[in-house]
Amino acid sequence: MFLWGTATAAYQIEGAVHEDGRGVSVWDTFAHEPGRTRDGHTGDVACDHYRRWREDVALMSGVGLNAYRFSIAWPRVQPAGSGAVNEKGLDFYDRLVDALLAAGIQPVPTLFHWDLPQALQDRGGWMSRGTAERFAEYAEIAARRLADRVPLWITLNEPFVHMAFGYAMGVHAPGLALMTDALPAAHHQLLGHGLAVRALRAAGARQVALTNNCTPVRAASADEADVKAAEAYDALHNRLFNDPVLLGEYPDLSAYTASLGFVQDGDLETIAAPLDALGINYYHPTRIAAPTAEGLPFTDAGVTGHPTTAFGWPVVPDGLRELLTGLEARYGAALPPIVVTENGCSQDDVLTGRGTIEDGGRIAFLRDHIEAMRRAMAEGVDVRGYFVWSLLDNFEWAEGYHQRFGLVHVDFATQRRTPKASYAWLKEFLAGQNTDT
Ligand code: FCB
Repeated sequence: MFLWGTATAAYQIEGAVHEDGRGVSVWDTFAHEPGRTRDGHTGDVACDHYRRWREDVALMSGVGLNAYRFSIAWPRVQPAGSGAVNEKGLDFYDRLVDALLAAGIQPVPTLFHWDLPQALQDRGGWMSRGTAERFAEYAEIAARRLADRVPLWITLNEPFVHMAFGYAMGVHAPGLALMTDALPAAHHQLLGHGLAVRALRAAGARQVALTNNCTPVRAASADEADVKAAEAYDALHNRLFNDPVLLGEYPDLSAYTASLGFVQDGDLETIAAPLDALGINYYHPTRIAAPTAEGLPFTDAGVTGHPTTAFGWPVVPDGLRELLTGLEARYGAALPPIVVTENGCSQDDVLTGRGTIEDGGRIAFLRDHIEAMRRAMAEGVDVRGYFVWSLLDNFEWAEGYHQRFGLVHVDFATQRRTPKASYAWLKEFLAGQNTDT
């Protein structure tokens, strides 16, 4: 069965941050620090999904989706990130899984979508090797409760973005600006992934995947300096997170670091544990030029000549085909089946006087990206699913509630949900699909 779904993440939709024994996450801490998020927005309430989840499952079943990718909040399951388990936190996901299955929707949980328990951050977060071990313990706890009903598990969401934004540049939680000294946060996330794969399988998980954010990288010109810079960027954004997992080795990172001293014997074997799928999140390609200043070995030259989303991201549907066929060309037999675990766009959606949201731009975005994915499939890439980011407008990290990505509009003052025109379009599109494609 081809998976057609939507994706969300716990901190972006759940709210209820003090409910039922949930512990504090790095995003609670970060969002409450002055100046960290636009207009000081926090996920304290978000979409109030923790209380309104039944309504949200009904919205998914109304559109005819057969899968749902959500994330489990580690601080709900283990409030201190280790040791004591909070059964009430697990109960929430248990009920959600049952309701999804009853609605004919396959649950696809992600174990870590950036909301690390603050207690673990206080011990170094992903800069510390111990966090990888704690992550595997938590993965096992979640799987022991849910794996009897959950076939496909995703360990981490976008370790690149978490490292780059959270540990290198400080624009996401935990707000560290370590620049290239952040590389251990990549390795320890990957190690955590590998240890979790083992723990999940031991606890009965049938299929395990990792979700990476990938971007096709283009050099700004054919000049050698631009080409070299593009290779360096590709190594950091794409290969750093795909090569160890699929090939059991790190790419050439000499542009960033003189030593990978934090890698211990056996780590790469652990990280390269076989996977059942690779999750790919695609938003846009990247254009890279030679560095203009000291520091990083590249400059982001910006993709021009395409329309942009409300976020300013270029809309390049064929970039998805390019990305998927590029992965196939690079990894060949080492590439497991792919699931597009996120794709979507933000728009300045407004309610019309008639109470509708006419998001034609989003309809075109989704239609064109699904077509691009199908072109890649026709060229031989094994793709098993496509998930729209996102079901609901939600807390878009540092942008707060300013970027609306949902198929369903949320009025954050009243929590009223209004399906957009894209929701109706997707419903009609799915009704016309053979579920095997
Ligand atoms: C991805 C994140 C997701 C959401 C989208 C817009 O990088 O995984 O949580 O913020 O971007």
